[in-house]
Amino acid sequence: MSGSESENRNLTVHEVSVRHEDRVRISGQSGAVLWFTGLSGSGKSTVANAVEQKLNQLGRLTYLLDGDNVRNGLCADLSFSDADRHENIRRVAHVAKLFWDANLITLVSFISPFRAERQVARDLIGNDFIEIFVDASLETCEQRDPKGLYKKARQGLIPEFTGISSPYEAPENPEVALKTGEESLEVCVEKVLAYLRSKGYIRSPSAS
Ligand code: ADX
Repeated sequence: MSGSESENRNLTVHEVSVRHEDRVRISGQSGAVLWFTGLSGSGKSTVANAVEQKLNQLGRLTYLLDGDNVRNGLCADLSFSDADRHENIRRVAHVAKLFWDANLITLVSFISPFRAERQVARDLIGNDFIEIFVDASLETCEQRDPKGLYKKARQGLIPEFTGISSPYEAPENPEVALKTGEESLEVCVEKVLAYLRSKGYIRSPSAS
């Protein structure tokens, strides 16, 4: 929201004294947002969960925001229409920004099918936004069908199902791309950790 928009709504944005950089200074870690995007069943939650476990073992403070979980609370009022998916991602981008500001390594695992919304999240969060494309083909996801949702969607029981009757716009230039149909979970986790090491979010094993 811009300054004039806040004024029009009679809101005053308060300056706070303790800022992100102050939390970075005393905590020995630097916050980031790992934004996992991909089809339902592509493995986003599985990889994000395994990455979070590793980060926890490395002594990093983390938080995982998962679509299925957040849709049970903060976003329980939202459907899967395009407009509600936009709102879902808008809300989670702002929550991720707050968690980043709190200096957590925040893992976001949502289908987040629209490029424009992911760009909004990237613009909001800035340099610490890391897009991770969990790239499994529709055929692979449908074959896995861990929740039986593709079957229902094919039967016409779930409207606007991503990949079937609602679009998924793949990232064009993600920081990390994982081929979960071909690469093992261990390889995928290591790719994410290698990226975080290369950018200084975690130390290399030899340095610790
Ligand atoms: S998003 O498109 O708005 O980013 P989100 O990640 O929050 O989606 O939720 C996706 C999860 O909701 C899926 O993993 C699946 O379990 C469930 N789901 C229920 N209905 C749909 C639907 N129509 N399309 C996609 N996922 C759905």
